[in-house]
Amino acid sequence: MLARVWSASLIGIEAVKVGVEVDVSGGLPGIVVVGLPDAAVQEAKERVKAALKNSGYTFPMRRIVINLTPADLRKEGPSFDLPISMGILAASEQVRSQQLDEFLFLGEVSLDGSLRPIAGVLPIAAAAQKLGLKGLILPAANINEAIVVEGLAVYGFQNLAEVAGFLNNPNRYQPVTTPAPSEDVADCLNSALDLRDVKGQSHARRALEIAAAGGHNLIFVGPPGSGKTMLARRLPSILPPLEFAEALEVTKIHSVAGLLKERGSLVRDRPFRSPHHSASGPALVGGGSFPRPGEISLSHNGILFLDELTEFKRDVLEFLRQPLEDGYVTIARTRQSVMFPASFTLIASTNPCPCGYFADPVQPCTCSSRQREQYWAKLSGPLMDRIDLQVMVNRLKPEEMTQQSTGEDSHTVRQRVKVARDRASDRFKAEPSLRCNAQMQSRHLKRWCQLDSATRQLLEAAIRQLGLSARGTDRILKVARTIADLANDQTMQTQHVAEAIQYRTLDRIQ
Ligand SMILES: Nc1ncnc2c1ncn2[C@@H]1O[C@H](COP(=O)(O)OP(=O)(O)OP(=O)(O)O)[C@@H](O)[C@H]1O
Ligand SMILES: [Mg+2]
Repeated sequence: MLARVWSASLIGIEAVKVGVEVDVSGGLPGIVVVGLPDAAVQEAKERVKAALKNSGYTFPMRRIVINLTPADLRKEGPSFDLPISMGILAASEQVRSQQLDEFLFLGEVSLDGSLRPIAGVLPIAAAAQKLGLKGLILPAANINEAIVVEGLAVYGFQNLAEVAGFLNNPNRYQPVTTPAPSEDVADCLNSALDLRDVKGQSHARRALEIAAAGGHNLIFVGPPGSGKTMLARRLPSILPPLEFAEALEVTKIHSVAGLLKERGSLVRDRPFRSPHHSASGPALVGGGSFPRPGEISLSHNGILFLDELTEFKRDVLEFLRQPLEDGYVTIARTRQSVMFPASFTLIASTNPCPCGYFADPVQPCTCSSRQREQYWAKLSGPLMDRIDLQVMVNRLKPEEMTQQSTGEDSHTVRQRVKVARDRASDRFKAEPSLRCNAQMQSRHLKRWCQLDSATRQLLEAAIRQLGLSARGTDRILKVARTIADLANDQTMQTQHVAEAIQYRTLDRIQ
């Protein structure tokens, strides 16, 4: 007899429906899986066989053919264990199959028949809801992730026998429903890292505020121990909370990467990822024969912090250029190419030279100019051109070091950031793809970054003096727009552009 069960597979962070057809017929006992299964799907045969036996069912001693459709799509991972098990039970008439094709099944099975959680449930749940299926059946441990999707009936079970019980009488079961949204995240953010702890460095603090308000890329350059890492790690404490749509995107990516187990259901905080400088290209941008999101996608809608930027391998950093511009990364493979969102704010830090003390008023720099050149050569011009805020962080003065810090706390700064972001969102009402000033394109600049003639002259002088590229100039305009937003100013004034220009420090020191 033939049975068909629905399941799903992932391409990037999108899910596609997969049919699991099971035919049990006469012939020599055996089981084959066809339809581009990977090794984990092939191994399902053995797991399912033991799991069915250990759950009290008979494993048919006949010829079993399992076909996964569509045939040209690669199927990976252990999530097909449950649909295959149910297909075998239905095809061998051990469960009722009348309503089998109204649900979508996902889950790995253990040898004792219990269901184990899998990665990537959220995008599949979203797809199941769009497909209009009657419900999603999955391991109980994955429920929280699935009920993020509204309007989808979700049934979570502990083991195979419970799922079979459900199929025999679906109407007796109540789906789990979406819980009421939790309290506003803005109020429940209590990061241990607060800007209050930072002494002095008002220039760097201002740059952090601008980066948070407009989503601009930033680099801190300064001697060891001046507080670069300390400042950068406090950026999440002044970022606005994720909007629901943003949170859903972030959660999908983390779900596909299998990182949700520690993080509960919907990811509410903006991601802050700080990969070590030994990270490889695929770790940073994503990869693998079944492409997985890398650090740049895991920081989507949040922050990618590259501490000690010059220690990263140059070719690895070059991978960042395209995503920094486009907000997504495409990973091409022979069988399929996938696209992952990667719209992140880059925050970097570095010393100004190999010894770390170039231009330091206290400690003399021991590097030759050639050594300094080689040091900066690691960071290509095109990459630095994409960093809008280039900020020197100087060592604290002795009197600043010994005094208590008097700076504002993160909560206060965050309120201002939020007001500036709201102002930008009002402007972007007709452009739903834009979320912050850094994402504006040329046509948006034409509309929202108009300059009077005196300001234009100032900008022209800066372009000449700093040798700015067209991209560099556009970036100055975007930063100036954010500075105007922070000042609650509808139009861009000379002082906004002037401040934006002085953040192109590195164009001068190199
Ligand atoms: N502005 C500051 N206010 C208060 N403490 C500071 C400040 N700057 C540095 N410190 C103290 O010094 C420590 C080291 O700072 P941090 O690690 O941020 O320096 P860094 O600039 O990243 O140095 P490196 O170049 O060596 O990485 C901090 O953990 C903090 O205790
Ligand atoms: Mg540091």
